[in-house]
Amino acid sequence: MTLVFNNLRKQYGANVAINDVSTDFAPGLIYGVIGPNGAGKSTLINMTAGSYTVSAGSISLDGRRLDGMKKHQIANSGIARTYQNIRLFDQMTVLENLEVCAYPAEVRNVWREVLWPPYGRARAAARRESAMEILRFFGLEGHADAEAGSLPYGRQRMLEIARALAMNPRVLLLDEPAAGLNHHETAELTAKLAELRSPERIMLVVEHDMDLVMTLCDRIVVMHHGKLLFQGTPAEVQASSDVQLAYLGTDNDIDDIRAAAQDRRAQLGIRARRRS
Ligand SMILES: Nc1ncnc2c1ncn2[C@@H]1O[C@H](COP(=O)(O)OP(=O)(O)OP(=O)(O)O)[C@@H](O)[C@H]1O
Ligand SMILES: [Mg+2]
Repeated sequence: MTLVFNNLRKQYGANVAINDVSTDFAPGLIYGVIGPNGAGKSTLINMTAGSYTVSAGSISLDGRRLDGMKKHQIANSGIARTYQNIRLFDQMTVLENLEVCAYPAEVRNVWREVLWPPYGRARAAARRESAMEILRFFGLEGHADAEAGSLPYGRQRMLEIARALAMNPRVLLLDEPAAGLNHHETAELTAKLAELRSPERIMLVVEHDMDLVMTLCDRIVVMHHGKLLFQGTPAEVQASSDVQLAYLGTDNDIDDIRAAAQDRRAQLGIRARRRS
């Protein structure tokens, strides 16, 4: 299974957000997508998940074109995502947030659930148990009956990922999962994400936190002004002067890139606190 971007382009009026990007992503690996603000990282995720249309080029999974499909068809193809700004069902419980996402995969069996109540009860119990298993993995089982919107910010970030996992995706797209998290929470998240690496799964993690990216990711894609600037292992990215120039405008070392990323974290922390 491979996810392929082929001469991908996205334009908003005259603004070219993604400019002729071609690359592919293999299962079993975690890919970091990094780059300065406005580089086009979220746009890549939004196009892959079908939230935005593609202006030119194509996106395919296992040779099957995703661009042009409806958003729910893309989700049914096994692609799940989280958002840069958290989007939970705030009024639903933590458990319900997962159950509703597990449901579409079973839609074809709905008539059986309705006509054979025992079967329906068994399926509902199975859905609940697999949702609880995911909550336990994220340490959220104690919050199962709490309203999602009442959780502390860091727990909400975890819940968003848990909810995406409830769809049992083959491709997991995470847009700044560590945004607004403190150092301890980020370390916890990094460890959890590492455990999600699986031979069947492609993971793309857009992130500004360089500690997370360098620790977690097997490959890194560097975006700059809508173009794919560089692609390689963490060590190769750290050694690339092109990447340093893109981030800092100077040829400084990785410590400066870290410092720039920390500034970004501080900004996001302020935003997160304002929201809560
Ligand atoms: N819905 C939209 N309408 C118009 N322009 C957009 C839209 N979404 C993104 N853009 C533009 O596309 C470019 C890429 O934006 P994108 O959000 O993909 O960047 P990013 O790399 O995710 O940045 P950040 O790190 O700040 O999240 C930017 O110039 C942005 O202003
Ligand atoms: Mg973004």
